[in-house]
Amino acid sequence: MPATIAAITPNPRGAKKIMGSSSSILKPNAKNPNPILRCNPHLLALAPYPPGRPIEEVQREYGLKRVIKLASNENPLGPSPKAVAALKRHARQLHLYPDGNVYYLRQALSRHLAVAPEQLMFGNGSDELIIWLALTYLSPRDTMIVSQYSFVRYQMAAQMVGARFKTVPLKNWRHDLVAMARAVDKSTKAVFLANPENPVGTMVGRKEFERFLKAVPRRVLIVLDQAYYEYVQAPDYFNGIEYIARHPNLVVLRTFSKTYGLAGLRVGYGVAVPEIVKDVDRVRPPFNVNRAGQEAAAAALDDGEFLQRSIAVNEEGRRYLYEQFERLGLEYIPSQTNFVLVRVGRDGCDGAAVAQAMMERGVIVRPMGGFGLKDYVRITIGLARENRLAVRILEKALRDAGRSATHQVQ
Ligand SMILES: Cc1ncc(COP(=O)(O)O)c(C=O)c1O
Repeated sequence: MPATIAAITPNPRGAKKIMGSSSSILKPNAKNPNPILRCNPHLLALAPYPPGRPIEEVQREYGLKRVIKLASNENPLGPSPKAVAALKRHARQLHLYPDGNVYYLRQALSRHLAVAPEQLMFGNGSDELIIWLALTYLSPRDTMIVSQYSFVRYQMAAQMVGARFKTVPLKNWRHDLVAMARAVDKSTKAVFLANPENPVGTMVGRKEFERFLKAVPRRVLIVLDQAYYEYVQAPDYFNGIEYIARHPNLVVLRTFSKTYGLAGLRVGYGVAVPEIVKDVDRVRPPFNVNRAGQEAAAAALDDGEFLQRSIAVNEEGRRYLYEQFERLGLEYIPSQTNFVLVRVGRDGCDGAAVAQAMMERGVIVRPMGGFGLKDYVRITIGLARENRLAVRILEKALRDAGRSATHQVQ
């Protein structure tokens, strides 16, 4: 019998007791929802991150044959063919642990980015690096600064380590870097900044970022998350890695999940001075980047053609969605990424109702109520036919959701 079952036995009067202890089992309540063990109190404010719903789950639930997912900013072209070929070649090695030092991918990226191999850190997705950075540098005495509507994993990482976070409002839907720098005080240990931002899709340019770097003291870690770096078309965008030499408190995060099409393999990386990489290594599990991911990412890095195609398909899709949103009279926020935030809530119905109506018709998009944007949905840019279908279904969903909201109001 497993120890956990053996340790808890019903007592003769029916109440469960923990063997070897006279204390009766903990009662669930708002402060302590777990009746078995007391969770660390600083974690109780954390709700699990709600990921986009998987296609298979939506198919099962609504009995749909065809479902498209435009909810998690994945690459609609699929993975790079070179990555798939590398995976097939490597399948017979899966009984072996991965290389904990990520040697080949490290060498390949170091050449690709023109940085020293010691400047690279790898994560099970860049998501994991966000946590390792918070764990490495933040303590319960410290504060993290983030932007309003920011990628929610930053503040969750602060909460995980018991640190506080301060939110700075956006200005015209963009990071207000002047206000963010001004918000830095004695307790500030880190600023986390996605550029472009998710879920808004906007970015700040080179000059603004340079002023921000100068204004923030060196004792403050600056994490510049460039998850959507390759998609950006704006001429004043910049490569954050160029600033590391002069600003050694800067870490740049990137990922293989978006333009390289490898979200399912979970490979992200960070670039920083070697001292920061060594610090993060103190907490990083030895085999956090799996063998298949390392092989596929190295191959994808070499697939320039796939990268260009990903960017071109995205550009075309972005233009199409803008045209259609304008035709439908929907407000949207011009985006530098592979998704667009669009305001669909009206007549008493919100983004969640529209997203639900779309899902029931086989198109999964992301409602944004959890980010404080209840009238909005975020739509990932798909292939041309997926975008056409999404717009058709959006039109129907708007009609349906509008109708049912009118009924409720009456
Ligand atoms: C801004 C931003 N950073 C990081 C991530 C995490 O990416 P991954 O963990 O897949 O590398 C995402 C994913 O959507 C993102 O939008």
